[in-house]
Amino acid sequence: MAQLWGGRFTKETDKLVYNFNASISFDQKFYVQDIEGSIAHVVMLEKQGILTKEEKDAIVKGLTGIRQDVENGTLQITEEYEDIHSFVEANLIERIGDAGKKLHTGRSRNDQVALDMRMYTRMEVIAVDGLVKTLLETLLKIMEENTETYMPGFTHLQKAQPVTLAHHIGAYFEMFKRDRLRLKDIYHRMNYCPLGAGALAGTTYPLDRHYTASLLGFEGPTLNSMDSVSDRDYVIEFLSALSTIMMHLSRFCEEVIIWNSNEYRFVEIDDAYSTGSSIMPQKKNPDIAELVRGKTGRVYGALISILTTMKGIPLAYNKDMQEDKELTFDAIDTVKGCLALFEGMMRTMKFNKPVMEKSAMMGFTNATDAADYLVVKGVPFRDAHSIIGKLVLYCIDKNCSIDDLTIDELKSISPVFEEDVYEAISLKTCVEKRLTVGAPGPDAMQKVIQIEKEYLANDWHNEEEK
Ligand code: ARG
Repeated sequence: MAQLWGGRFTKETDKLVYNFNASISFDQKFYVQDIEGSIAHVVMLEKQGILTKEEKDAIVKGLTGIRQDVENGTLQITEEYEDIHSFVEANLIERIGDAGKKLHTGRSRNDQVALDMRMYTRMEVIAVDGLVKTLLETLLKIMEENTETYMPGFTHLQKAQPVTLAHHIGAYFEMFKRDRLRLKDIYHRMNYCPLGAGALAGTTYPLDRHYTASLLGFEGPTLNSMDSVSDRDYVIEFLSALSTIMMHLSRFCEEVIIWNSNEYRFVEIDDAYSTGSSIMPQKKNPDIAELVRGKTGRVYGALISILTTMKGIPLAYNKDMQEDKELTFDAIDTVKGCLALFEGMMRTMKFNKPVMEKSAMMGFTNATDAADYLVVKGVPFRDAHSIIGKLVLYCIDKNCSIDDLTIDELKSISPVFEEDVYEAISLKTCVEKRLTVGAPGPDAMQKVIQIEKEYLANDWHNEEEK
């Protein structure tokens, strides 16, 4: 009886262990990279005289066939294999026989998975960069159309000084530009080939690692075999860059949500990017912006998770590292989805320019300029600050803006005011006068827009993709 029970228990445990250990459910995502890496490996093995030309040709043909069959749906990647590497190798042997058993010569799954993950990540760095670039193009278009759309600039979410919509959007343009620079850096730092590192200590076969690296578009081979199989820095760096992109998107979403609220009405999100309520018929909710903001947590989670997984791993490969995949794949897909949706939402969003302008008028955003006006007339700044403070109080009482006061009312608070004050503190003047580099004045903004246009005309990864 015990034996029967014991046998049953052992069998069940084995199945659980197998499932716990297997990675095919997620590493099938890089079957293309696995096959491309294997092809480069055997081409190099033949060049080095380790495989014959016939063996190499048979393996390349077999691998190409597997890729085609997976792509056209005749070959399913199923969970009967432990991982994508076993799936490819088993299918190869089934197709071409004994030659297939030579594919893994001078290679370990440790350097193989390090290669696959690196190639997959490298491809996605370029894909994410392309999506950020598309977003930048949309933002630049909004900027070009709105260099004279006045709106309040905020600090502490309180109206501070007038800016333009072009200027406000331009702030995000800079953020996403930096995100692209980070991606470019990561790409170049990670673009070295780990294949040939073997399990951890290289191999005794005379591999040409430079050749394999060049076949796969890498700048060269990695220089330490133990580091090669256990380095996941590039995953962490990529997740960090993705987290920063999400942080930027999330801040932007927060603003869109505020701007779209009934109280602000600065913007109206297009129907196609809004959702309704099942109970309240009047509702048009900014769900897309909220979801992007919400999904930021998920991407940060992936970063923290992998940082934590990696922190205690001794050299060289350990199975912990299999945990680098699911969350990274999820984070990449999440960020790509968010970038695409956010871009569409921005492209179709309507800006209520008169509402924005009125808000800037009514919020005393020209108070600093009114104080500066007095300073020009000889009043010390501290006194001017206090005079305008009184003026603001007076206006709050009357529920009007400084511009609405008559010259007599202004003079009753300070005799220094003259007719030219209206021109000096008009919204247009307040913004137009701000002409230092990076300021909202339309002329200064035009110069920046020109720089951004030239920036968008060139892509850092055109060369790498060739
Ligand atoms: N599935 C493994 C991973 O994702 C592949 C490498 C397996 N190597 C090994 N020695 N078990 O990391």
